[in-house]
Amino acid sequence: MDMFVIRGGRRLAGAVAVSGSKNAALPILAATLAVDGSCLLHNVPDLADIRTLAELLGTLQVEVRRTRTGAMQIVHHGDSACVADYELVRKMRAGISVLGPLLGRRGRACVSLPGGCNIGHRPIDLHLKGLAALGAEIRIERGYVIAEADRLHGADIYLGGPCGSTVTGTCNVMTAAVFAEGTTTIEAAACEPEVVDLGQFLISAGARISGLGTPTLRIEGVDRLSGCEHTVIPDRIEAATLMIAGAITRSSVEITHVEPAQLTAVIEKLREIGVGIECRGDALAVDGSGSLTAAECIALPHPALPTDIQAQLTALLSTAEGISIVTDKVFPDRFMHIAELARMGARVRREGASAIISGPARLSGAAVMASDLRASAALVLAGLAADGPSIVRRIYHLDRGYESLETKLRSLGADVQRTRDHADHIPLELADPLTPARPAAPHFATHPSRKKRPA
Ligand code: EPZ
Repeated sequence: MDMFVIRGGRRLAGAVAVSGSKNAALPILAATLAVDGSCLLHNVPDLADIRTLAELLGTLQVEVRRTRTGAMQIVHHGDSACVADYELVRKMRAGISVLGPLLGRRGRACVSLPGGCNIGHRPIDLHLKGLAALGAEIRIERGYVIAEADRLHGADIYLGGPCGSTVTGTCNVMTAAVFAEGTTTIEAAACEPEVVDLGQFLISAGARISGLGTPTLRIEGVDRLSGCEHTVIPDRIEAATLMIAGAITRSSVEITHVEPAQLTAVIEKLREIGVGIECRGDALAVDGSGSLTAAECIALPHPALPTDIQAQLTALLSTAEGISIVTDKVFPDRFMHIAELARMGARVRREGASAIISGPARLSGAAVMASDLRASAALVLAGLAADGPSIVRRIYHLDRGYESLETKLRSLGADVQRTRDHADHIPLELADPLTPARPAAPHFATHPSRKKRPA
């Protein structure tokens, strides 16, 4: 099992490119099940979840392979298989994304119910409601969803849930509706850029979809989809994470290969906190040299602040002046990072669906444990700002959604090493906390460049 050893307190500099979007690539890869002929996908990130889904597609007679140029080539070898096995789906919740494509194209799907999750309750009732409205017979047996339909028919579907719409649910229902006879309207559809990207892929393959990016989708049924070529959008969550890396280390960095229009809420919030952000085409220049102040953050469905960066914002706000509140209205239990950030000196506590943060705290390196993808990212960010070394264990959580994050951070000057989790690799200061700490790196607070930016 791997861990990161991070020596914080360093200023970052330079530019780093963002990889393709995990949450766009996954549903698009799943949707290739519904496409006759081969597809070529560009900008698919090399992640554990992508490799797991590729393995799952392999069991469903769809071969996925990287070309010499790094693109993903998808080739069909049959369309009779319809069982998505528990052993693979339990590793990656997004395995549920094959449900809609299998049902739509093959008329039958037997998909393992996704396992538990560290970020809270994650039902699929809305997925099943939408597919049933299209005419599927659905039953749950032995931990599997079994959905069958000789021919799907168009329907008017409302996909709103208690916490807004459902991203992967919209993907599943939209993809299945592509093959439904007649017209399907989806109200309260998810508007996330990743859903839009899937819709664009389906349209490239011959689907007839309108309303992408709005809460109302309209799908005209077609008989088949044909192979196509598609470039996956940049990962806006990775971009936001790297922006916060610049801010939390009080650095000036440039994040490239992004689509600023997908990050409006994030840019607005970081500016409110005191981070300078300049949009430069497909790049964002981040200036963290000013003083940072508290803010209230509320995670809601797109175009609001994404739930996938609330943990990272919590780490940043622990170093900002004042009392901040971070509320997650999408996943109200997504706070596994709080206790670990507190071990690093953050003054943060949970109150229901909110984290209350009192800053600025002087973060100190510690041994911490990753628990889920975005919580891991928050701990890495805190390690970059902390005095002294940190180790972040169970870094496999991070590998599910960030492509070589340590390489990206090192390219900006951070001291982040990936090692095997072994006693010999634990820095002396952590192995024996009574060891006199090495003189702390000049902390950002005293850096002469820190000044209040003119109003
Ligand atoms: C997707 O998860 C993303 N994952 C998540 O990113 C992201 O946090 C989430 O959307 C919200 O934006 C992928 O795209 C692979 P939801 P998803 O269905 O689709 C409730 C990451 O870190 N709900 O939009 O599973 C649900 O409980 C991951 O990259 C129902 O009630 O999330 C939640 O409160 C984590 N019934 C809310 O809707 C349903 O049938 C949003 O869930 C489905 C969902």
